[in-house]
Amino acid sequence: MLPPRNAPVSRWAWFARRLAVVLALIGTALVGWLWWSSVLPGSYSAMQMGKPDYGGGPGADDAIMSHGAHTAQAAEAAAPGVQPVDVTELVADPGRTADVRVELVARTEQVTPPGGEPFEGFTLNGQTPGPTIRATQGQLVEVVLRNDDVTAGTTLHWHGIDVPNAMDGVAGVTQDAVPAGRSFTYRFVAEQAGTFWYHAHQASHPQVVGGLFGAIVLEPAPEADAAGSAPSESAVQGAADAVAVVHTYPGGQRTLNGVVGDAHHEAAPGAAVRVRLVNTDSTPTSAWVTGAAFRILAVDGHDLSGPTPVSGKTVDLTAGGRVDLEVSVPASGAARVEVPGASLVVGPDGARADRAPAPRQAVDLLAYGSPADTGLDPTRADRRFRYDIGRAPGFLDGRPGYWWTINGGILPAVPMFMVDEGDTVVMTVSNSSGEVHPMHLHGHHLLVLSRDGERSSGSPWWVDSLNVEHGETYEVAFLADNPGIWMDHCHNLPHAAEGLMTHVAYSGVTTPFRLGRDTGNDPE
Ligand code: C2O
Ligand code: CU
Repeated sequence: MLPPRNAPVSRWAWFARRLAVVLALIGTALVGWLWWSSVLPGSYSAMQMGKPDYGGGPGADDAIMSHGAHTAQAAEAAAPGVQPVDVTELVADPGRTADVRVELVARTEQVTPPGGEPFEGFTLNGQTPGPTIRATQGQLVEVVLRNDDVTAGTTLHWHGIDVPNAMDGVAGVTQDAVPAGRSFTYRFVAEQAGTFWYHAHQASHPQVVGGLFGAIVLEPAPEADAAGSAPSESAVQGAADAVAVVHTYPGGQRTLNGVVGDAHHEAAPGAAVRVRLVNTDSTPTSAWVTGAAFRILAVDGHDLSGPTPVSGKTVDLTAGGRVDLEVSVPASGAARVEVPGASLVVGPDGARADRAPAPRQAVDLLAYGSPADTGLDPTRADRRFRYDIGRAPGFLDGRPGYWWTINGGILPAVPMFMVDEGDTVVMTVSNSSGEVHPMHLHGHHLLVLSRDGERSSGSPWWVDSLNVEHGETYEVAFLADNPGIWMDHCHNLPHAAEGLMTHVAYSGVTTPFRLGRDTGNDPE
């Protein structure tokens, strides 16, 4: 005889088992659906990469009317009265001949930086950093990029220069990656004056780290010279002007102008030298000067108003950012411009330059220099956007992980910031993701209005690369005066590849270029 069964218990056990199975199935299906729905198509338009966000300005109603507008494609169809424009039409005057012409040949090569170890990288005209390009405000610059043998294809982006959109160099958005054996010609008028840089924007992380970048200096037009001084000869300018490109090559080799350790810029005692620091790395750094006081003349290609002498402080230099320091060579010896792990000695050949540890305090650009007119009235903003950076578990293109989020969504569930030409735009960038992000908007300059509620009280502080620490909130403003589809991303390049990127897009602008694994275009 079988023992009597405890009927209610076994019924509950049966039910619990079934419930567990059903819940497991639902969970698996949900995760499967999340995975499946995150997989990006093999080929798609940048305009499908986000949900249109009109920032309270016009456009929202038109987009809702045209098919619910789950993607910005409805917006792409252009609001009534807006002429649709293809990005390829957004170029410099094709009839104008170039004033400055440069050819850059990109090559895969083994590189040994002076004082360092060899690595497999890339060169432009046989060197890295590539040659420094110099032009004067108002000149038309033409750069022919020839890709000799970079198999992933390549492009050049003009970081900080507000070029016409077709010249922006973003593979899959403003052009196709230039395959090995082919070339592409970039043409733009240098409307700004200042320190900028160029770099690959195809497979950016490996290509930039490996060497596809260089500096570009735009000199003010002689008549724009505030001092009204006679136009200086370029040879003289060369002496008073030192480019200082900071880069960490594979193997953690920290360099300045491609040299491991000390680079040198010859200058006479008493000379004032404009040192143009460029941070081409993915992480923020800082600079300080030993042996001389200095002034901060410019940030991200914008001269500061009323710069005052600084000593005993560092200057922050975010990823992709630039600062121009005025360094006066001491009467004896030399000044040393230092960044962690590298330095530029400025002074007579062989002069002794002391070394000092980094000062503890940094100059706060929110309060440095004196206020001046900005030409922007943020109180009359046409649109206000939020760019909240966070982090969440989920899937990015089918890959599970703990991914960056923008306004709570993982790419492509991110906002596409829609604007019209002429708009004044205010954007609030906040970061609760646990890490610092150097945020970079293409094609425009951002005016810093406030940080954590504290208003900017010094010189107008214009940036194209903004260091946003965990816990910080910046309010910035810009004038939408350069139609196109513009990346707005983190310049820590692995972060961008991990989804911390979106676009500012002008209503009515369309792109024929495609992104995705089947296209060969991979801007990050
Ligand atoms: Cu310096 Cu989107 O880049
Ligand atoms: Cu980042």
